Parts: sequence; C-alpha cells; structure tokens
Amino acid sequence: QGSTPRAISIVPQAAPVAVFKLTQDFNNDQFPNKVNLGVGAYRTDEGQPWVLPVVKKVEKIIVHDDRLNHEYLPILGLPEFRSSASKIVLGDNSPAILENRVGAVQCLGGTGALKIGAEFLRRFYNGSNNTKTPIYVSAPTWENHNAVFSSAGFEDVRPYRYWDAEKRGLDLAGFLGDLESCPEHSVFVLHACAHNPTGTDPTQEQWKQIAEVMMRRKLFAFFDSAYQGFASGSLEKDAWAVRYFVSSGFEMFCAQSFSKNFGLYNERVGNLTVVARDADNLKRVLSQMEKVVRITWSNPPSQGARIVTITLTSPELFSEWQENVKTMANRVLLMRSQLKAKLQALGTPGTWDHITDQIGMFSFTGLNPKQVEYLVKEKHIYLMASGRINMCGLTTKNIDYVAESIHEAVTKVQ
Ligand SMILES: Cc1ncc(COP(=O)(O)O)c(C=O)c1O
Ligand SMILES: *[C@@H]1O[C@H](CO)[C@@H](O)[C@H](O)[C@H]1NC(C)=O
Ligand SMILES: *[C@@H]1O[C@H](CO)[C@@H](O)[C@H](O)[C@H]1NC(C)=O
Ligand SMILES: *[C@@H]1O[C@H](CO)[C@@H](O)[C@H](O)[C@H]1NC(C)=O
Repeated sequence: QGSTPRAISIVPQAAPVAVFKLTQDFNNDQFPNKVNLGVGAYRTDEGQPWVLPVVKKVEKIIVHDDRLNHEYLPILGLPEFRSSASKIVLGDNSPAILENRVGAVQCLGGTGALKIGAEFLRRFYNGSNNTKTPIYVSAPTWENHNAVFSSAGFEDVRPYRYWDAEKRGLDLAGFLGDLESCPEHSVFVLHACAHNPTGTDPTQEQWKQIAEVMMRRKLFAFFDSAYQGFASGSLEKDAWAVRYFVSSGFEMFCAQSFSKNFGLYNERVGNLTVVARDADNLKRVLSQMEKVVRITWSNPPSQGARIVTITLTSPELFSEWQENVKTMANRVLLMRSQLKAKLQALGTPGTWDHITDQIGMFSFTGLNPKQVEYLVKEKHIYLMASGRINMCGLTTKNIDYVAESIHEAVTKVQ
C-alpha cells in the first residue's frame, strides 16, 4: 500500500450543494407536518410533483410511434427542437430569425446551455483563450452562475448591483451604475424573467434603460431564461426583455430551460439560442459550438427534446401546454396572496407587500439567517439561508402553519 502512488486519495471533501442538502435533510426529518420550501420545483396543492397532463399525452404518442428509435442525435441536437415552429423565446416575427442569424444548440438543461455558452465565450470572445473578460452576475443570483463561468476558465466573475435589501426591490441606480463603470465588452448574465432568488424583475422601461447602456458600452448580454411562463402566466410577456434586446440589434446568447415550465426536471432539456451578426457569422459560431459539445457530452438525449418539440409544433398540444403553465402560475399567485393576507392578519411585524409584488417561483422573504435557522430547527420548515422560499412548497393545508411559524420566527428571533 505504501508504494502505490497517491493519485486520488488526497482529495478534500467538497461541500454539499446547499439546495439538495436541504432536500436531504427534509427527507430525513420524521416530523409529520414538515414543509419543504427549498428546491425550485413545482408542487401541487397536495404537495406532490406534477407531471403536466400534456406531457403524459405526448409521452404516449412517443411510445406508440414506431418510426422513433434510439440512434445518436446530431451533436447540436434534434433538428426540429432547434427550430421548432412556435419559436417561444424570440417570437414568430423575430427580425433576427427572418435574417437567418439565429441558431440553437440543444443542451442538457438550462445549466448545460449556460455551460456551453460559457465555454464558447472563454475560447472565442474578444479574441481567443480569454480568461480575463469580466463576467458580471447579479447580486444575489442563482449560485451556479458563479461556478459555471469560473469553471469554464473565467478568472474574473463579479457581482453587479441588483437587489436593494432596504426597500426590498430592484436597485436600478446601482445596476445602471455598474453597467456604466465596468470595462467595455464585459459579459452580463441577465435573468430573462422571474429573477432567482429575488422574484424581482426590471420593468419594461427599466429594461430599455439597461439595453441602452449595454449597447453604448458594447456589453454582451447572456440571458438566462429558466422560468418563462412562471412570471406572468404568459409565455409572450415573460419573453419581452429577450425580444427587446434582439430587436435592438444585440449579438447575444440566451440559455433556455424547459425544466420548470414543462416539469421535465430530470430529462435535461435546454436550448442555447445564438443571435449572431449575420448568417455567415452564425455558421462559424455553430461550427465551434459543435466542437465544444463534442468534448462535453458528445450528443444530447432525445426524450425530453421530443416531448417539447411535439408539444410546440402541434397547435392543440401547444395551447394545452399554455393552460398547464397557467395552472402552475396561478397556484403560485394564490399562495402569494394567501401568505401575505395571513401574515397581515397575524400582525407580523414588517411589511409583506413584497410577497405579492415579487413574481415567479420564489419569494425573497427578508427573513434573516437566524430566523431561517429557527424555522428549520424548531418548525421543520426548510428554506434557503438567504430567506428564499419556493412558493410552490406552500399548500392550502400547510399555509397556516407556515404563516404562524414565520410570525413566531420574526417576533422571537431578531
Ligand atoms: C436562474 C436559473 N438558471 C438556470 C437554472 C437551470 O435549470 P436546469 O435545471 O434546466 O439546468 C435554474 C434552475 O434552478 C435557475 O434557477
Ligand atoms: C431553440 O432556439 C432556437 C433559436 O432561438 C429557436 O428557433 C427554437 O424554437 C428553440 N427551440 C425550442 C424548443 O424552443
Ligand atoms: C489557445 O489555447 C490552445 C490550447 O491550450 C492553444 O493550442 C492555442 O494556441 C491558444 N491560442 C492562443 C491564441 O493563445
Ligand atoms: C479585449 O481584448 C483586448 C485586446 O486583447 C484587451 O485589451 C481588452 O482588455 C479585452 N477586453 C475585455 C473586456 O476582455
């Protein structure tokens, strides 16, 4: 034993991923009325995962279609998926699509789309092998943004101001200030809608201001669209910012996830949209994307992409899907208004308007880490240390318990 080389034995233990650790702790908890407000996945009013009815239907279509097989997909993905008729992020009349300068790479979830985009940028943005370009992510953001860009080789991942904790809203002045003062050509990761974790998006007027500075200062927009449909219940409305940037003439990326809005979390369905300067540029970008994908997962999986494509290309299934998305969005809205009303009725100190002002799957409650710890330890209510709660974890059965527990945490723990 002493003479074998210590090749992998000296590895340090890595910290668990907070949000999945929380689920594990929740699963191990024996308390009957425990509540999981952690992981960002939809739950029904019975607290159960929901397989969208339209997805069930399409899965049956796939099983019975004898033309389908399990051959490798092309490296860049299922062709119909990459160009499916409904064009839900960019819209049917996108000028960039008409000019043939939009392309796509089928990726493993939104995370895969961010990863492939990051790997491409590190290799080719502003000259080759660039590791110095600043990558700006919102403060706070989904924690994986930092890690995905640094592990692609970017050495300078920085926060931009986004959240004003004092007024529990967008820090527009700070955001615009950072856009003005950053080095030209920096990359900005922008949440397309339903910002994670704050549930706070810029208004259309504010997006216009953001776009104006980004265009003038030659900043690159990398949109992350993980919750299209969840913010407003409307796919169109939730795509407004992305479409506005495209119509303003940006070259940009958009990482699109179908995990949440199709409830296809474990099928890993994502799409990286590339909006290039012209058709020739697009062709060259995609040729390099193909190399990046080849060394990463070589060929993407097909099941989830087929489900999404079949749904989006049939008018009936498409409208059924839109209804399913609305069902989810409406349940979140109902839980928001009920939680706010209950906290107000209890006279819980502080203002709770932000619960209904915020949108999407999450609420950034403003609970501090000690109050969070109290909820987890004393009340068996699991939420992120940042105070973020997944509104879908609330049900008509547990909402009283959660509201009373929040009341207790706020009044007992400073
Ligand atoms: C902001 C944001 N981006 C991307 C993702 C990644 O989604 P996927 O599961 O499709 O990789 C998530 C998932 O939680 C997210 O919250
Ligand atoms: C993937 O992105 C491309 C480019 O934006 C788009 O045309 C296509 O419709 C997208 N696919 C899906 C399934 O949304
Ligand atoms: C970029 O890195 C690759 C791999 O390390 C190397 O082969 C190539 O020469 C580098 N290019 C430049 C311009 O430094
Ligand atoms: C872009 O490249 C130029 C020249 O290589 C360099 O001076 C500049 O700092 C780079 N900008 C960014 C934002 O990486």
